[in-house]
Amino acid sequence: MLSLVAVIALSCQRTPKVEMITISNHNGMSATFTNYGARITSLIVPASDGTFKDVVWGYDTVEEYYDSNDLYCGPIVGRYGNRIGKGRFVLDGKEYFLTINDGENHLHGGSGGLSTKVWNMEKLSDREVKMSILSPDGEEGYPGNVEITVYYTLNYDNSFDIKYEAVTDAPTIINLTSHAYFNLHGTSKYSTNSHILRINASHFTPTDEGLIPTGEIASVGGTPLDFRVPTAIGERIDEVSFEPIAFAGGYDHNWVLDKEREFSLAAEVFEPSTGIVMQVWSDQPGLQFYSGNFMDGKDIGRGGDIHGYRTGIALETQNYPDAPNHPDFPSPVLRPGEVYKQLTRYSFSLNAF
Ligand code: GLA
Repeated sequence: MLSLVAVIALSCQRTPKVEMITISNHNGMSATFTNYGARITSLIVPASDGTFKDVVWGYDTVEEYYDSNDLYCGPIVGRYGNRIGKGRFVLDGKEYFLTINDGENHLHGGSGGLSTKVWNMEKLSDREVKMSILSPDGEEGYPGNVEITVYYTLNYDNSFDIKYEAVTDAPTIINLTSHAYFNLHGTSKYSTNSHILRINASHFTPTDEGLIPTGEIASVGGTPLDFRVPTAIGERIDEVSFEPIAFAGGYDHNWVLDKEREFSLAAEVFEPSTGIVMQVWSDQPGLQFYSGNFMDGKDIGRGGDIHGYRTGIALETQNYPDAPNHPDFPSPVLRPGEVYKQLTRYSFSLNAF
């Protein structure tokens, strides 16, 4: 249950100032955040030639993030990351209607979702930042006053943790994720199609043309979605004879992780030209891998880098899309007295797999 203090704080809350904070570890790895959308704006890691590369998309100024809301460049998305069909769901017999912002569907918490809010931000230590926000009852159509906390931590072994917690004062649904775009070249001058990807998933959730799951859990075997053996992203990305690739214009699917709900290795990515390897560890049941198919090159990032077609990938650890409308999918329901918890770890090294 939310404490009375929290609810009073919610009704009195003022918008905090938009700021940026940088944290670092003793290896020279550093990360920068802004509280606009609880967003990661920079993540600098070692490359095999002894230099350091910034492996996430960002802009030079915080103001530029306001204009790029539709790209979801680095924020925490929610309350429900990913899509909810027609923006409707039923919970405990009551029907709820969410903002429609993606064709006829609801995407990433709606047009005024958590990625557009100014969060409270606090530097807990040289290596840790805390973001928190109170999302009021009815925001974007979601029930319940929900108190959300996200901890970003850089560890000594060059891993980067995102820890989430949320509590509510009324039954609701929740699915938080980070929408950082990675490019292990350290610049979006080069396509992410050259990255070698492995995903620990034997199944995925097929969708309709609007990318809403049909409810089926299908095998990846023999399809371009089979990344159980490491494969270059670009190798099969245009195999449009496979309908799910045609619907998404590339990769934009939810993989059903083999080790559901157990903190384990979900995926790993390697860029041969920089030697950078990124592992993704998570306790979530699904992984949305989006290969940047909607990018049109009009968006200009840090240092003039053009955010072009397929020059950034998102690896979003989360529940399945549209789970509120599929009783067979893992439950996204959060009730008073329960604590929503999630841990995702992006771990960097130079050891090719
Ligand atoms: C997610 C979705 C994509 C797209 C991006 C934002 O990754 O799955 O379809 O909407 O967000 O552009």
